Amino acid sequence: MRRSLVVGNWKMNGTRESAAALVQGILAGLDGDIADIAVCVPYVYLESVGNIINSTRLGLGAQNIADKASGAYTGEVSASMLAEVGCKYALVGHSERRTYYGDSDASVAARFVQAQTQNIIPILCVGETLEQREQDQTIAVVNEQLDAVIELAGIAAFNNAVIAYEPVWAIGTGRTATDDQAQEVHKHIRSYIAAKDQAIAEKIQILYGGSAKPDNAQGLFAMADIDGGLIGGASLDAESFLKIYHSVSK
Ligand code: 13P
Repeated sequence: MRRSLVVGNWKMNGTRESAAALVQGILAGLDGDIADIAVCVPYVYLESVGNIINSTRLGLGAQNIADKASGAYTGEVSASMLAEVGCKYALVGHSERRTYYGDSDASVAARFVQAQTQNIIPILCVGETLEQREQDQTIAVVNEQLDAVIELAGIAAFNNAVIAYEPVWAIGTGRTATDDQAQEVHKHIRSYIAAKDQAIAEKIQILYGGSAKPDNAQGLFAMADIDGGLIGGASLDAESFLKIYHSVSK
């Protein structure tokens, strides 16, 4: 049985003070070890948040990671730096990175590989735009995004990785995928991985992201191939994030 995972992605929100208050609120309500849980916080707050959640079971994650190990790459933050401040996870290929900052499939694959050099678990985000969905390209787009990483990292690398399916049209829009729409793509992702390695497919956690909220999380998480969520807006409030966490059923 796969263990569920619920990850908050705070995106570019908060202050050092609100970040501390938010994790303290999450820790205060975190009863019952029903699933893995983590927060992906802005780079500059990783250390202060890390000091608070250190030695708790709330994991620390970064929202991106450099595609190179070190050197003259102004503005980037390396895997070794993130490991040093205690990151367990790093998002790679979030659609906001792909759309606004040009993170290509190739750079996403390199970021994925860099994370693993420091034992940071990459959370590979994939998903189609509304236009791509309407043109029936969802599966092709997701395959292409997966292939870029599989080609560079090898399928075995998915032993220590998480996949997040985040349809772009559902992110921050209030328009969540239906349980069936999400399950259909999750099932496809798992079978795509299974065609390359059955054992990895059975154990890999595939998260859903895109307007997941306390009132729809339970239905999504009950689907066979949805192993938790990557939560944006609703993770900025301890109570709603915890409600989503407590919606995990398996
Ligand atoms: P929302 O939950 O705000 O739609 O964001 C989803 C997301 O992008 C998480 O990475």
